[in-house]
Amino acid sequence: MKEKRIGIIMNGVTGRMGLNQHLVRSVLAIRKQGGVVLADGSRLVPDPMLVGRNAAKLEQIAKEYGMDRWTTDLQGALANPDDSIYFDAQLTTLRAPSVEAAIAAGKHIYCEKPLAVDSAMALRLAGLAKAAGVKHGVVQDKLFLPGMRKLKRLVNSGFFGRILSVRGEFGYWVFEGDWQPAQRPSWNYRKQDDGGIIVDMFCHWRYVLDHTFGRVRAVQCLGSTAIPERVDEQGLRYQCTAEDSAYGTFELDGGIIAQINSSWSVRVYRDELFNLQVDGTLGSAVAGLRECRTQHRVNTPRPVWNPDIENPFRFRENWQEVPDNQTFDNGFKVQWELFLKHVAEDAPFPHDFLEGARGVQLAELGLKSWQERRWLDVPELGV
Ligand SMILES: NC(=O)c1ccc[n+]([C@@H]2O[C@H](COP(=O)([O-])OP(=O)(O)OC[C@H]3O[C@@H](n4cnc5c(N)ncnc54)[C@H](O)[C@@H]3O)[C@@H](O)[C@H]2O)c1
Repeated sequence: MKEKRIGIIMNGVTGRMGLNQHLVRSVLAIRKQGGVVLADGSRLVPDPMLVGRNAAKLEQIAKEYGMDRWTTDLQGALANPDDSIYFDAQLTTLRAPSVEAAIAAGKHIYCEKPLAVDSAMALRLAGLAKAAGVKHGVVQDKLFLPGMRKLKRLVNSGFFGRILSVRGEFGYWVFEGDWQPAQRPSWNYRKQDDGGIIVDMFCHWRYVLDHTFGRVRAVQCLGSTAIPERVDEQGLRYQCTAEDSAYGTFELDGGIIAQINSSWSVRVYRDELFNLQVDGTLGSAVAGLRECRTQHRVNTPRPVWNPDIENPFRFRENWQEVPDNQTFDNGFKVQWELFLKHVAEDAPFPHDFLEGARGVQLAELGLKSWQERRWLDVPELGV
């Protein structure tokens, strides 16, 4: 079978997301399976060029995974016409200038969320990419989680009847860094480094809500910094200037009300790190990262409020598992495959920079709502 090479400049591969999800579990996994099969029967094989600041780290990663292409010179990498895609998983703050340079170099761009730190910049990047005629995309990984895909299947089947409300619970305890190391980078907790859970998570909530239930039309949000001081990667104490918890309420098309709590200072007493409960007139579902359970109206128990007796119900017993009915690959990898096909053969790819800008817009409005203590409408964006 004919093989085609596609060169990808991968910036930020020494980071958590860049290394684990994008390099190892996506691009290298695609290489290992022999590439992506295109409509003409040929195989498109990605060839990564690792970019970063720390030569020693890059060399070590390249060696560990059997690669020979790495550099600390981004401009030099962008100047190579043999690498047609630029990928960015750097710190959020650094993304916009690098993406802009990549657009100027004529590269197709794929990048982590948030696309930029404010919606004006995100829209600017969307406009520049459009004007340059390059393909562009933003990671929307939660849509590709098995649990979310099963939930979408339920929505499409009409299972819920009229969807009434959506309630989400996201989060886990992130250690403070003193008595146990933190499992997230310290910049996440500093406003001056564009950290904060609202910027981080509202981008996700925007596409999850928009694509699964209906467009987000208004937002109300309250943030809080539960842990005011943490210890960083160097063992130094620092002030947490960004919020680590956010309580958001969203109005969606169709009168659907969604509430999502996001927190890095909550202990998990649920089945998964993220749960979304959907209640509709005909049935309800609870979806997580991998699982999805339903309760049809005919299986709904009839509780009566009476705290004086032992609870007679085992509420979880009236729920049914939604079967996989298909094989779910890693969500990041699935989206990479779609983007590669989009670049190579113009296959549809709805997760573009405008979508990325919508996520940034919701985060921005969430922050504003918190600051001004009021509901805000979410205007339509366009470029
Ligand atoms: N899709 C998701 O679910 C998800 C989850 C977490 C993070 N992210 C996003 O991924 C991006 C990276 O997050 P992470 O958690 O991997 O962070 P990280 O701190 O682990 O990695 C950041 C990367 O940026 C590089 N970097 C740091 N400072 C730099 C500087 N001054 N100049 C150049 N490069 C620098 C680091 O070397 C590293 O490669 C962020 O934009 C974040 O919002 C997405």
